[in-house]
Amino acid sequence: MTLSVQGYRRPARWLHWIIAVLVLLMIPAGLIMVQKGLARPVQDALFLFHKNTGVILFGLLVIRVIYRRRHPAPDLPDSLPTWQRQAAHLSHLALYGLLIVMPVSGYVRVRAGGFPIESLDAIGIGTLLPKSDRLADAASAVHQTAAFLLIAIVALHIAAAMQHAVLRRDGIWSRMWPPNG
Ligand code: HEM
Repeated sequence: MTLSVQGYRRPARWLHWIIAVLVLLMIPAGLIMVQKGLARPVQDALFLFHKNTGVILFGLLVIRVIYRRRHPAPDLPDSLPTWQRQAAHLSHLALYGLLIVMPVSGYVRVRAGGFPIESLDAIGIGTLLPKSDRLADAASAVHQTAAFLLIAIVALHIAAAMQHAVLRRDGIWSRMWPPNG
C-alpha cells in the first residue's frame, strides 16, 4: 500500500530532478575527460560540456538554496525512525555542501590555471582570479576529493530513495516524484 504524505512543491521537484540529471552527467564526463590517451577532440568536447554545464548547475543550485530557505522541506512522516531522519538530514546537508564546493573548486581550478570558461567569457564575466599554478593545483585536489565524497553520497541517496520507492512504499518517494506532481 502506498501511503499519502505531504510532498515538495512543484518548483522544488523540478529543481531537484534537473540538478540530479545534470550531476549524473557531470560525474562521468569529469571522470572520462581526465583519462590519459583520450582522443583530443573527445577530451575538448567533454571539457567544454563539463565547464559550462557546471556554470549552469551552480546557477540552479543558488536558486535552489534560496527557494529552500523560503520554502522549508515538508515534515517527514512520524513512521520514520529517528536515526533515518537524522541520516537523511545529514546526507542532504552534505549534498548541498558538496554541490557548492564542486563548481567553486572547478571554477578556481580552471581560472587560476589560466583557461577559458566559454559561457562566462561570452557574457563578459572575465576571470576573477590571478593565474597561479599553486592555487590551481590546490583547487584540483579539492575538486577530486569532493568528487569522491559526492559519488559516495549520491550512491547512498539513490539507494535510500529506491528502498522507499520499491521496498517500503511509505510515500517518501512520491514527496519528490513525479516532477510535476
Ligand atoms: C556539480 C558540479 C561538478 C561536478 C559533479 C564535477 C565532477 C567532476 C569529476 C567527477 C571530475 C573528475 C575528478 C578526477 O577523478 O580527477 C572532475 C574534474 C574536473 N572538473 Fe569538475 N565537476 C563539477 C563542476 C565543475 C566546474 C564548474 C568546472 C569549471 C568551470 C569544473 C572543472 C573541472 C576540471 C578542470 C577537472 C579536471 C581536474 C584536474 O584534473 O585538475 N568542474 N569534475
